[in-house]
Amino acid sequence: MDLKWERNATKWRHRLFAAVMIATLIILAVIFRRETGKEWIGYQRDYNEKLAAKLNKPEFAATPVRIQQVWIQSLNAIDRCTTCHLGVENPLFDKEPQPFTTHPGNFLKTHPVDKFGCTVCHQGDGQAVTVEATHGAVHHLNRQLLAKEFVQSSCVKCHVDLHDVSVTPEQFSWGATFLEGRRLTFQYGCRGCHKINGEGGSIGPELTGLGSKTELAFSLIHDFAHIEGPHPTMSQWVYEHFLTPQKVVPGNPQLNYAPTVMPNFGLTPEQARALTIYVMGLRNPKVEAIPYEYIVQKRMAQAASANPKSLQ
Ligand code: HEC
Ligand code: HEC
Ligand code: HEC
Ligand code: HEC
Repeated sequence: MDLKWERNATKWRHRLFAAVMIATLIILAVIFRRETGKEWIGYQRDYNEKLAAKLNKPEFAATPVRIQQVWIQSLNAIDRCTTCHLGVENPLFDKEPQPFTTHPGNFLKTHPVDKFGCTVCHQGDGQAVTVEATHGAVHHLNRQLLAKEFVQSSCVKCHVDLHDVSVTPEQFSWGATFLEGRRLTFQYGCRGCHKINGEGGSIGPELTGLGSKTELAFSLIHDFAHIEGPHPTMSQWVYEHFLTPQKVVPGNPQLNYAPTVMPNFGLTPEQARALTIYVMGLRNPKVEAIPYEYIVQKRMAQAASANPKSLQ
């Protein structure tokens, strides 16, 4: 009897051991697949092959792949974007598709990558190395990636002159959409209800610092139930709210909440986008913590001495 029990127990111990081994193998296989199946490796191989062909140096195709990163301590940035965006500083890649395309404009010459990185302008997750994690609307990622003219909402972190009302879109063509948004706030009298950079009423919430709020902080006190866009991000909320405030904040008759009093200005999608870029550019310097040497104040100082009342 005892012996049989003993044999049974041994059998079960063997089975348990086999199960543990199989589970371990499965876990190892998953880890291995993740490590070797990384999309960035494919991009780097493609890039190396293209570079080899362009320079007629076949040996370049065999360059070992590795994660590229810049670490800029004073900006608290570890940016690995160039792991895939390998051609940003290479003029030979101006006709190549993303992620290899040469960077537009002179931005990487005026803001060298080793001193600025990418995320100070583009936000996003600098340490991630997958397309999904860097470009997808990642749930609650505190700083969503900024592309196209949305990048303009981060220029003002350093180019504080963009808040100076004497600055015109002709002087700052690369900040034109932001400046159009700023102009619209005067046209529609937003300061009648909102405080912006120290001036305005208090019927609506203060907008200064809005662009430095984290997605999480914003989502905790805003209702996303009426947002139609595919990605429930802060800027999507703000954009749809500009188009139709009463759709996004309809109130709740049961709880006796009235719909928002913010007027529907009948904005076009372009105007709503410009206003979104503008309000998302209203940054809180304490949160952004940009070191003094990065702040560009020349024009602001000049404008201030020419017209002391012109600063906003
Ligand atoms: C895993 C590879 C990979 C990494 C890492 C990566 N990118 Fe990209 N990026 C791509 C690809 C592929 C595209 C083109 C397809 C797309 O838009 O999703 C792209 C497109 C873009 C665009 C244009 C998007 C648009 O809508 O016009 C921007 C801007 C950009 N990347 C910035 C960044 C920044 C900033 C980082 C770092 C935070 C980064 N990328 C990291 C692969 C990558
Ligand atoms: C000084 C700010 C700044 C920095 C730093 C910066 N960019 Fe950009 N980037 C821009 C602007 C502005 C645009 C143009 C946006 C537009 O389409 O109007 C842009 C566009 C892009 C695009 C889209 C190009 C296209 O044709 O659609 C990619 C990709 C990109 N940047 C990647 C990067 C990467 C990778 C880095 C870091 C190596 C970087 N950027 C650093 C400001 C910057
Ligand atoms: C982290 C700070 C920082 C950010 C963010 C930043 N810049 Fe700059 N930018 C600088 C500094 C510093 C200079 C050099 C100024 C100088 O030498 O006078 C500069 C120079 C420039 C210049 C050269 C001409 C000039 O006015 O001096 C342009 C154009 C420019 N930036 C555009 C942009 C745009 C567009 C963005 C947003 C997409 C941007 N910058 C974001 C700090 C920044
Ligand atoms: C009649 C007063 C009034 C005017 C004028 C007005 N707003 Fe509002 N706004 C409000 C109120 C009240 C709220 C809060 C309720 C809501 O979210 O709709 C609000 C909310 C907002 C929000 C969301 C901010 C947050 O933190 O929740 C933004 C952004 C905003 N307004 C921008 C603007 C801009 C830009 C203008 C000018 C084009 C403007 N508003 C004009 C009353 C106003």
